Amino acid sequence: MSKFAVLGHGVVGSGTVELFNMNRELIHQRQGIDLELGYILDIRDFPGLPYSDKFTKDINDILNDDEVTVVAEVMGGVHPAYDFVLACLNKGKSVCTSNKELVAKKGAELLRAAKEHNCNFMFEASTGGAIPVLRPMHTCLAGNEITGIAGILNGTTNFILTKMKEDGMGFAEALKLAQDNGYAEKDPTADIEGHDACRKICILSSLAFGRHIYPDWVYCEGISAITEEDTAYAEASGYAIKLIGSVERVGDKILPMVAPRFVPDSCELSSVSDVFNAIMVYGNGFDQVMFYGKGAGKLPTASAVLGDVIDCAKKSGTDMSQYWEDSADNSFIADYAAHPVRKYIRTTGSDKSAIEAKFGKVDYLSRPDAPADELAFITPALPDGDIDRISAELGTVKSSIRVYEA
Ligand code: HSE
Repeated sequence: MSKFAVLGHGVVGSGTVELFNMNRELIHQRQGIDLELGYILDIRDFPGLPYSDKFTKDINDILNDDEVTVVAEVMGGVHPAYDFVLACLNKGKSVCTSNKELVAKKGAELLRAAKEHNCNFMFEASTGGAIPVLRPMHTCLAGNEITGIAGILNGTTNFILTKMKEDGMGFAEALKLAQDNGYAEKDPTADIEGHDACRKICILSSLAFGRHIYPDWVYCEGISAITEEDTAYAEASGYAIKLIGSVERVGDKILPMVAPRFVPDSCELSSVSDVFNAIMVYGNGFDQVMFYGKGAGKLPTASAVLGDVIDCAKKSGTDMSQYWEDSADNSFIADYAAHPVRKYIRTTGSDKSAIEAKFGKVDYLSRPDAPADELAFITPALPDGDIDRISAELGTVKSSIRVYEA
């Protein structure tokens, strides 16, 4: 018998308990382990549930129970989650978490603590919700060098962009619907401004390249500046606007980034809609694979948490295939401003001869009912920062969005 505890009874925590209760027998039969839910930690009271007797408000009940070998941390935020997770690992209890902020900010330290105490720190649910992507990267794809990753990593923004594109919804209406469905973070700024996707690309990049990449080191731009005009130009020109978290090798450095992109319809990522996430991973043997599924929501995220709990309960010792070292500095992060990109630019008060004098040949886009003084075009590939500098010399730049190149 393996006893586990759940820290937090919010959306994901209650989902983890619900999924465990739904499938306990099946897990026993198929996985050969008899899991028992020992405790649920939450400062709130939850009377009237069939498992109300499991609740505690004191982390020491869990820390001091030697029968508890695995702990699922689904509280979110860094404090007190970090303190509780570290205390569990220091006691030799494996921890599984959905908490991307915790992993992105403290992952290297917590992985080291798990190694020092011969247990595991797992976080499949932190990136891509239900989608198995971290474990395949360090198991099935372990014989390759990962050369790049690009993905739709945030369900809320993908849901919003889809509703804006397909149902003509306004931004606020679509955001409210995402919140009502339990997709958004408590403070949706983290979704809309790309911070959530940034944490996830940090986790994927750290795993792929073996060094901790901190969110502060990553260029990050959200979707709050995307307008209906941009959506109309994209749609009329064979693109979908998607928030893309990416990392690629640039010489002996890497370039992680989160930004909205014009994704061509020919790319699989363009058709990923609603709350679905998709992650393309590129490698030197397998070429490319795409992982796809529900990236947010109660039971989809619980599915990944419970999968880690089962894996931890079956393992003895630390699984070193999912490990990375801390990084002393960010000298291995490339300068995004020097990296060549093509950009969609929407301007007013300029003209084609001025644009072509600055950029050379560009691809002009059109949309229905565009005002006479508006011009939209896609630049040739130039250093990112140069495009900003050059376009600032044109009329008024209304929008500037990078094009995604596979
Ligand atoms: N707010 C996140 C999202 C939840 O929308 O993807 C899952 O990490």
